[in-house]
Amino acid sequence: MSADTGGPLRHDPARPAPSLELGVIVPTFKEAPNVGPLLAKLEAALEGVVWQAIFVDDDSPDGTAAVVKAIAAVDPRVICLHRIGRRGLAGAVIEGALASAAPFVAVIDGDLQHDETLLPQMLKALQEDRADVVVGSRYLGVAGADASALGARREAGSRLANWLGQRVLRAPVTDPMSGFFMIRRELVETVAPELATSGFKVLFDILASQKTPPRYLELPYEFRVRNAGESKLDNGVVVQYLGLLAAKLSRDLISPRFIMFALVGASGVVVNLVILRLLLHIGFAAAQLVAALGAMTSNYLINNAVTYRDRRKRGLALVTGYLKFVMLCSVPLAANVAVATMVYERGPSWWVAGVAGAIVAAVWNYVTTSRAVW
Ligand code: GDD
Ligand code: MN
Repeated sequence: MSADTGGPLRHDPARPAPSLELGVIVPTFKEAPNVGPLLAKLEAALEGVVWQAIFVDDDSPDGTAAVVKAIAAVDPRVICLHRIGRRGLAGAVIEGALASAAPFVAVIDGDLQHDETLLPQMLKALQEDRADVVVGSRYLGVAGADASALGARREAGSRLANWLGQRVLRAPVTDPMSGFFMIRRELVETVAPELATSGFKVLFDILASQKTPPRYLELPYEFRVRNAGESKLDNGVVVQYLGLLAAKLSRDLISPRFIMFALVGASGVVVNLVILRLLLHIGFAAAQLVAALGAMTSNYLINNAVTYRDRRKRGLALVTGYLKFVMLCSVPLAANVAVATMVYERGPSWWVAGVAGAIVAAVWNYVTTSRAVW
């Protein structure tokens, strides 16, 4: 090899640069005080491994990105993917994995709840080709009082979610909702276009989307108590996960968002019927009008918090969005009341009439608001 063919990027053959072995993806939202401690722990755990850490931060108001960049300025192993105007754990994990050039990528929470000392074992299993995915499990080999860092209600919910997840994956993974795993990067790349970008269940989604079933390996660890800050997992995340399960069960024929919209619509029907029944004494048409408005308001708020969680409106945008929503939903309101009144006058049952009116409105609402409001 003659020296003059070498461009500026060519490495000195006498000192070959070690190739990158592992990309550690750390999704963060409001984890500023945890960045330094986490990197110190990674550094200690990954001694002898050529690694990089990619923090994917959704412009946290506490300045997490700035903390990462200050360290990145002096440590080239550290990278900050600073995302603006976007939220979502799953999307952050996917983007981080796609940004890495390492053959294997690990995903670990930024709050020190996961046991980073497992990483070398996970890497070894993948490098020796004993598995395609290694999952850190909170439930493997622990009986009863395991995952105690979760609350009791969280834990019951987590177990139900796991049970459902196992049915969909048709594999005995004990913690398919784990946020702590390592995988061949290629397995993320091939399914990336199909993955949901919001919600917490990215491992589940990656596994469920594979054409050929990946070989799993699970390693037990003890879920630690969060270091600083607070959890971002709330009820909306759980409902979102149920939508994802339903989408996977339908083999992606129906989108999670559509299922969610339909579920919220169904809750709106209940609201509509309850108000209608309570106000029947003021006359049917008037009662159905108020009932429809009530259902509209609850549908808007729930859709905003859950269905369109990733584009959630707050403050002034919440108000203008509501006005748009009401305007759009008022178009079929006349039809709603007319159809319901018509059915009511012909039929014996007040609730069949209410449902008929609601269905007419629901179809219109879905089509128009999904485009115009969110
Ligand atoms: N970039 C980005 N964007 N990061 C996020 C977002 C987001 O919208 N939401 C949460 N994160 C980051 C947090 O900063 C943290 O590093 C990690 O994702 C996990 O979030 P937590 O809020 O700490 O979740 P948890 O501890 O309650 O949930 C645990 O259990 C889940 C399943 O039951 C975690 O282990 C999750 O990873 C796991 O999926
Ligand atoms: Mn956490």
